[in-house]
Amino acid sequence: DQLRALLRQMPKAELHIHIEGSLEPELIFALAARNGVALAYASVEQLRAAYAFEDLQSFLDIYYAGASVLLKEQDFYDMTSAYLARAAADNVRHAEIFFDPQTHTARGVPMADVINGIHRACQDSPVSATLILSFLRHLSEEDAFATLEQALPHRDKFIGIGLDSSEVGNPPEKFARVFARCRELGFHLVAHAGEEGPPAYIETALDVLHVERIDHGVRCLEDAALTQRLARQQTALTVCPLSNTKLRVFDTMAEHNLLGLLDAGLLVTVNSDDPAYFGGYMNANFAAVFEALPLGLAHAQRLARNGFIAAFLPDEVKRRYL
Ligand code: HPA
Ligand code: ZN
Repeated sequence: DQLRALLRQMPKAELHIHIEGSLEPELIFALAARNGVALAYASVEQLRAAYAFEDLQSFLDIYYAGASVLLKEQDFYDMTSAYLARAAADNVRHAEIFFDPQTHTARGVPMADVINGIHRACQDSPVSATLILSFLRHLSEEDAFATLEQALPHRDKFIGIGLDSSEVGNPPEKFARVFARCRELGFHLVAHAGEEGPPAYIETALDVLHVERIDHGVRCLEDAALTQRLARQQTALTVCPLSNTKLRVFDTMAEHNLLGLLDAGLLVTVNSDDPAYFGGYMNANFAAVFEALPLGLAHAQRLARNGFIAAFLPDEVKRRYL
């Protein structure tokens, strides 16, 4: 119908996508063969069948195992090109893409190969695409500092810094000093907070790390004062509906709080997070949430517009989409 066509056709900005989470099982097997990497699964079907997650950690274990096939600059290029082609098919006009360098440098892959492969694919795509280097929060702040140091020769190839991986027990304030340094260096700052972790993590992401957007942030509604603050400041939340149901943040899409977030006046955006693992890219996320919740044309337009409002793009570029 009319709403479904609008959801597909409207220009979108994707602000929460982990490039390693766009690696489809077919590409994992192709890269494993190309690089001589052994996999714990015999076939694409067996691997896909393992994508039944109980929580964030059970997903992360498989996500890091999948990334182990990435060894050469061309592998990072091919993965990123495949994502951008898929994004273009969903009318994504701009993407701000997370990458997790520590996942790769820990296996001996040179930082230059990681960044150059992903960046070259962005430059070769008709989709506008920028990069956000994300620190793994289960590792130490010292490790994050070392990663920043290795990445700085490539500082012209990424625009921001993020924080992802296992949230509970790894609060934002663990990374206070390295984020302060990144802020001095002039990077945009974001952090995952309030996905599985408590609303207090959203607060310290804002007050200690000084992030400009919150990735996920859906648990903010448990704290009325925090919700009011996020609404007043118009802090963007990069919400990922299919991720939230696959990782059991909400048991069903009908229980997702996206409409509650919108009704609270928050700057909500819709994103795919790890589309190869969670069952869909941008349009599948829009379709799933509009199927399950009483949302209409005005909500669709507001969500798409929010993506551009919250993007790290110059005002004159944003204006074309607003
Ligand atoms: N949360 C935390 N870490 C992640 C995610 C996520 O949704 N996706 C990839 N790494
Ligand atoms: Zn994420």
